[in-house]
Amino acid sequence: MEWRRLWFWVMVVVLMTEGAVSVSGGNVTYDGRSLIIDGQRKILFSGSIHYPRSTPEMWPSLIGKAKEGGLDVIQTYVFWNLHEPQPGQYNFSGRYDLVKFIKEIQAQGLYACLRIGPYIESEWTYGGFPFWLHDVPGIVYRTDNELFKFYMQNFTTKIVNLMQSEGLYASQGGPIILSQIENEYQNVEAAFHEKGPAYVQWAAKMAVNLQTGVPWVMCKQTDAPDPVINTCNGMKCGQTFGGPNSPNKPSMWTENWTSFYQVYGGEPYIRSAEDIAFHVALFIARMNGSYVNYYMYHGGTNFGRTSSAYVITSYYDQAPLDEYGLLRQPKRGHLKQLHAAIRNCSTTLLQGMRTNFSLGQLQEAYVFREESGGRCVAFLTNNDEKDNATVQFQNTSYYLMPRSISILPDCEKVIFNTAKVNTSYNKRITRSAQIFDSVDKWEGSKDVIQNFEPTISLQSNTLLEHMNVTKDKSDYLWYTMRFDHNISCTEPVLRVVSLGHVAHAFVNDIYIGNAHGNHDTKQFIMENPVVLNNGSNNISLLSVMVGLPDSGAFLERRFAGLQGVEIHCNNTDQFYNFTNYAWGYKVGLLGENLQIYREENLDDIEWSKINGSLNQPLIWYKTSFNPPAGNDPIALNLSSMGKGEAWINGQSVGRYWVSFLTSKGKPSQTMYHVPRSFLKDSENLLVLLEEVGGNPLHISLNTISLSTLSDRTYFLSSIPSIRLD
Ligand SMILES: *[C@@H]1O[C@H](CO)[C@@H](O)[C@H](O)[C@H]1NC(C)=O
Ligand SMILES: *[C@@H]1O[C@H](CO)[C@@H](O)[C@H](O)[C@H]1NC(C)=O
Ligand SMILES: *[C@@H]1O[C@H](CO)[C@@H](O)[C@H](O)[C@H]1NC(C)=O
Ligand SMILES: *[C@@H]1O[C@H](CO)[C@@H](O)[C@H](O)[C@H]1NC(C)=O
Ligand SMILES: *[C@@H]1O[C@H](CO)[C@@H](O)[C@H](O)[C@H]1NC(C)=O
Ligand SMILES: *[C@@H]1O[C@H](CO)[C@@H](O)[C@H](O)[C@H]1NC(C)=O
Ligand SMILES: *[C@@H]1O[C@H](CO)[C@@H](O)[C@H](O)[C@H]1NC(C)=O
Ligand SMILES: *[C@@H]1O[C@H](CO)[C@@H](O)[C@H](O)[C@H]1NC(C)=O
Ligand SMILES: *[C@@H]1O[C@H](CO)[C@@H](O)[C@H](O)[C@H]1NC(C)=O
Ligand SMILES: *[C@@H]1O[C@H](CO)[C@@H](O)[C@H](O)[C@H]1NC(C)=O
Ligand SMILES: *[C@@H]1O[C@H](CO)[C@@H](O)[C@H](O)[C@H]1NC(C)=O
Ligand SMILES: *[C@@H]1O[C@H](CO)[C@@H](O)[C@H](O)[C@H]1NC(C)=O
Repeated sequence: MEWRRLWFWVMVVVLMTEGAVSVSGGNVTYDGRSLIIDGQRKILFSGSIHYPRSTPEMWPSLIGKAKEGGLDVIQTYVFWNLHEPQPGQYNFSGRYDLVKFIKEIQAQGLYACLRIGPYIESEWTYGGFPFWLHDVPGIVYRTDNELFKFYMQNFTTKIVNLMQSEGLYASQGGPIILSQIENEYQNVEAAFHEKGPAYVQWAAKMAVNLQTGVPWVMCKQTDAPDPVINTCNGMKCGQTFGGPNSPNKPSMWTENWTSFYQVYGGEPYIRSAEDIAFHVALFIARMNGSYVNYYMYHGGTNFGRTSSAYVITSYYDQAPLDEYGLLRQPKRGHLKQLHAAIRNCSTTLLQGMRTNFSLGQLQEAYVFREESGGRCVAFLTNNDEKDNATVQFQNTSYYLMPRSISILPDCEKVIFNTAKVNTSYNKRITRSAQIFDSVDKWEGSKDVIQNFEPTISLQSNTLLEHMNVTKDKSDYLWYTMRFDHNISCTEPVLRVVSLGHVAHAFVNDIYIGNAHGNHDTKQFIMENPVVLNNGSNNISLLSVMVGLPDSGAFLERRFAGLQGVEIHCNNTDQFYNFTNYAWGYKVGLLGENLQIYREENLDDIEWSKINGSLNQPLIWYKTSFNPPAGNDPIALNLSSMGKGEAWINGQSVGRYWVSFLTSKGKPSQTMYHVPRSFLKDSENLLVLLEEVGGNPLHISLNTISLSTLSDRTYFLSSIPSIRLD
């Protein structure tokens, strides 16, 4: 299985045509070269930071570090399912305080790009859609469907009105210079036949009619209607993009070429600072790019149940600011120097005419020259992956490192080379601040294994679709049934077919085992030998989802949960087929439904000492702790646990799944970020829900800090074994 994913999503505005667009006051417009803000063309570096993936306490520092790293713009999606958990009921408080986040961007003097969507994908559960949309009869998402359009318009209008009421658009003196409607729709457009293009027309018109005073973009949408800017998204936009779809529009290149989120069972993907810098510089030189967005600049954490299917909670930890908001060097510093080098010559880049010519077989010069004053900027590129090159440019010899771009802001002196890292290196240090190895400090409580009862409120004689039953109120759904065993059956084997994501089997209250799918292959089969009683037997199957799907057409029709349940016998052709049988359903685990992870509900169940209850399935553990001194970020190391969820003072830090190993035999994630703001001065409640079996005595609380290493040679020679983390 190929788990690798790219790491940075770069959005480059490429301006190919000289559009005649008037410039006016604080409104944002564009011409063939760049966005125009307050009458000025701009080269803009942008970085994605998603407000709910950190905490309000972290925002000022994250935004400040982004600014200090040479960014001009912070880009964020808007997360519909956080803001409208029930139709017409809104929540913009705490981590969902979008206005506060945008105002913080403004306070630090940066611009904002608001990607409203409201479909966002983003490895976010259900692509950002509130689950209640699923139950609107007749709805089909993201197409020319009146019901969907009503709710999409309703939410989009709500957000635009909110931003306008706070004066946050640039046209009102605020920081928002761009908005996005829809998201990579072209990926699914064909599935909707003629309704796809009709929906695109509608979405663009609906957005433009909201009169934000700043441009709208549709990424990856060749047929984006005027004046919405169509942008390219793909691996080879430089070759495949057909350009802007109207002569007065700039063209934008959105490409996912280094980004990538990590899934359970997947390895992290490391992309070098040099490689990112090369591509950013190439886009500016070769594509006349004037807007580059890093997806993500800070990835943060998918707290609670917000990850989409199989995605880990640590999001783009390899970004220039790591999950905890710490600088990732040399990546962050190298890009900062690139931004400064480009800014140094931005006037010439924006006013000059560009020419390009060959300097050798794999070497090329891109030169921007101003007509008046004759100022000149050059980018000397060496596309040779292996060899250095010496080239002649304007009668001077230049030495170019393999696969590199040199930037000459005066066409003479090289001030930056993408392959030459000239910044400090660092290493992330994890220190154990507290271990939880005292058995006396823990208490445990087994959750209830649900059995079929004739009184159970939800029954069906088929296997129901998982999400349609849970309504996403929980990851967990019990499928229970009871049957009389009356055939001769040696070595009975329980066979369960599921479409996602995990299944646990209990027969007569005894744990039989579990199985799971993965991010790329949802379906899986669980086959386990079972012991049957003569007479009545209870089968209790716990189906678990690890986030809802976030992409593709017809998201409203996805299927998860059990599809087939049979018991096969060895001695005969006879078998039990329980696929269509009297099943009873129960949503959620008891402790979950009682919210026993909250201090005020702890007494709703019985807790006892945990001697003898280690490595048990379906069990809750609780303890309390004092926070580590200082201000360093904190993470829980859950490497001795299996699969479940962790709460601190009632707030979920996310699902963990340590037992799902990568092809190298390691968990994808063991460290779970606990924001300082989740903690009290003392007696912090830690609750773990363990599904498969783990040992809480070996977990620890860690502080995360950086050690700076100023020189690469020292770095590599003195600490040979460390990972460039
Ligand atoms: C870049 O701009 C120049 C004019 O300055 C133009 O000749 C060239 O075609 C543009 N290239 C692209 C890829 O837009
Ligand atoms: C911005 O555009 C709006 C609507 O197009 C217009 O009413 C307003 O005067 C413009 N503002 C400025 C500062 O030009
Ligand atoms: C709104 O969201 C916050 C999380 O930021 C949560 O703590 C709060 O309970 C929610 N409010 C309502 C009314 O649901
Ligand atoms: C682009 O990247 C975003 C963020 O990682 C992801 O949601 C999306 O699936 C990617 N798109 C493609 C076409 O790879
Ligand atoms: C959105 O829909 C709600 C009802 O669900 C309604 O109260 C509200 O007025 C609508 N808002 C807009 C902007 O259409
Ligand atoms: C560019 O950098 C050079 C040398 O570092 C400096 O002298 C010059 O003023 C800078 N130009 C701009 C426009 O920042
Ligand atoms: C100039 O750059 C364009 C891409 O922007 C490329 O297609 C063309 O071949 C280059 N011309 C020369 C002479 O290298
Ligand atoms: C390129 O030049 C550098 C610096 O002179 C040298 O260290 C390196 O070995 C050269 N690389 C190749 C592939 O020739
Ligand atoms: C390079 O040298 C040639 C011949 O010596 C001269 O004609 C030309 O002007 C020089 N070009 C530059 C950019 O200095
Ligand atoms: C969802 O459940 C309802 C009954 O609660 C049923 O009418 C509907 O057909 C189900 N939808 C799917 C997709 O299973
Ligand atoms: C039945 O049992 C025999 C002997 O234990 C074994 O070899 C065979 O694989 C079993 N068959 C099935 C279908 O389980
Ligand atoms: C069990 O029943 C289901 C539903 O009728 C059917 O699709 C499946 O093929 C049956 N299994 C076997 C092994 O016959």
